[in-house]
Amino acid sequence: MTSATVQENIVEDTANSQPTETMKAAVIRQFGDVDVLQYEEIDTPKPKPGHILIKVLAAGINRLDHYLREGSVVPELPFPHILGADAVGEVVVLGESVTNVKIGERVIPAPGFPLKEEDDHIRPAVTAPSFALPGLHIWGSYAQYMEVPARWVVKDDTGLTPEEVATLPVVLATSVRSVKEVGEVKAGDKVLIHAGASGSGSMQIQVAKALGAQVATTVRDDAKGEYAKSLGADLVINTRKEDFVEQVKAWTGGQGADVVIDNLGGDVLPKSIDAVRPLGTVVVYGFVAGTQTTFDITKFYFAQKKLRGSMASDPENLAWGLEQIRTGRIKPTLDRTLPLSQAAEAHRLIATNQVTGNIVLLPWAD
Ligand SMILES: NC(=O)c1ccc[n+]([C@@H]2O[C@H](COP(=O)([O-])OP(=O)(O)OC[C@H]3O[C@@H](n4cnc5c(N)ncnc54)[C@H](OP(=O)(O)O)[C@@H]3O)[C@@H](O)[C@H]2O)c1
Repeated sequence: MTSATVQENIVEDTANSQPTETMKAAVIRQFGDVDVLQYEEIDTPKPKPGHILIKVLAAGINRLDHYLREGSVVPELPFPHILGADAVGEVVVLGESVTNVKIGERVIPAPGFPLKEEDDHIRPAVTAPSFALPGLHIWGSYAQYMEVPARWVVKDDTGLTPEEVATLPVVLATSVRSVKEVGEVKAGDKVLIHAGASGSGSMQIQVAKALGAQVATTVRDDAKGEYAKSLGADLVINTRKEDFVEQVKAWTGGQGADVVIDNLGGDVLPKSIDAVRPLGTVVVYGFVAGTQTTFDITKFYFAQKKLRGSMASDPENLAWGLEQIRTGRIKPTLDRTLPLSQAAEAHRLIATNQVTGNIVLLPWAD
C-alpha cells in the first residue's frame, strides 16, 4: 500500500470524529539539537471565539522550523512550544460565532495572518502588529490538532492528497510573493533562482515558469540538478563545478539576469549582485549560507541595481498560488512523509541538506 493510500484510509476513518482531551504532538521545551523535539501527550487546545480546531491530516516542515528549534533566529519562544506553519486538516470544533466553515470540511490554514481583525487590511500582512505565524507566534501543526482563526483558513479544493497539500502553504505563498510581487518577474524575463531543489527554490522555479520567465538555477549536486530540470529550469548550474556569475552572464549575452532570487545569502549574495543586470533586482529571501556578508557598493549603485527583501506572504499570494495548483501549472514537491513521532529525524534530514522539495509529518500514522 502506498503512503498516499494509507493516508486516505486514515482520513476516512477519522472524518468528523470528536477531538480527544489530549493529543500527540512533537513538543519543544528548550532550544537545541534535533532531540529537543519530544513526541509526547499534551492537552488538546480549546478554540477561542472566532477560532476553530482542526484535526491535522498532514504537517509540512520548513527550514525555518529548524532555525526556530536551534534558537538561532528567535531568542525567545514561550515553552512548551509546537512548531509548524504548514498544515491541512479537517474542522472538528467551531469556536463561538464561527460561521464561515463547517465541521468535517478540509481546510488549509494561511501561513501567517493578523490575529486582530482591525489589522486584517494591512499589507504586507507581516507588518501588522498582531501578525502571527503558526509554529512561531502561536502553536503550530506538529500535532494531532491545531487551533487557528476561522477567518484565516481556505477550503482545500486542490484535489491533492493531504501530504501533497501540506508541502504547499509557506513555500507556495512566499514564492509567489518573492518572485511575482517583490521580484516583479514577468514573461520573457531571465531569472536566476538559488538552491533550485530546496523547498523554496523548487517552488520559485515553478512560479517563475508560470509567469512565462526563463529560469536558471543553482544546485551543488547533479541529482538535485535533474530534479530542478524536471520542474522546468532552463539552465542548471552545479556550483561545485561552475561559477554561477560566469554561467548567467553567458546565458544572458553578457548582460546578467533580470532578477535573482537569493535563498542563500552569506557570501553568495555579493555574487548574486554581480549576476544581475544593470537596473535589475536581487530579492533577498533566505540565509542558508549565512546572515552576514560584505560587498563593494560601487558595483551595486553604479549600475543602479535594486536589492529588495521578501518576507512571509499575503493571503492574495496564497490564493494566486492555489489557483496555479488547481490548473496544474504548479505541482507540489513532496520528498517523503514520516510519522509525527519521527519529527526529530525529519529535522536531521533538513539540517544535513538531504531533502529535495519538502518533507511532511503524518500525525495519525503512529
Ligand atoms: N523570505 C521568506 O518568506 C522565506 C520563506 C521560506 C523560507 N525562507 C528561507 O529560505 C531559505 C531556504 O529555505 P528552504 O525551506 O527552502 O530550505 P531547504 O528546503 O532546507 O533547502 C536549503 C538548500 O540550500 C542548499 N544549501 C545549504 N547550504 C548551502 C550553502 N552553504 N551554499 C549553497 N547552498 C546551500 C542545500 O541544497 P543543495 O544541497 O542542493 O545545495 C539545501 O537543501 C532559508 O533561509 C529559509 O529561512 C524564507
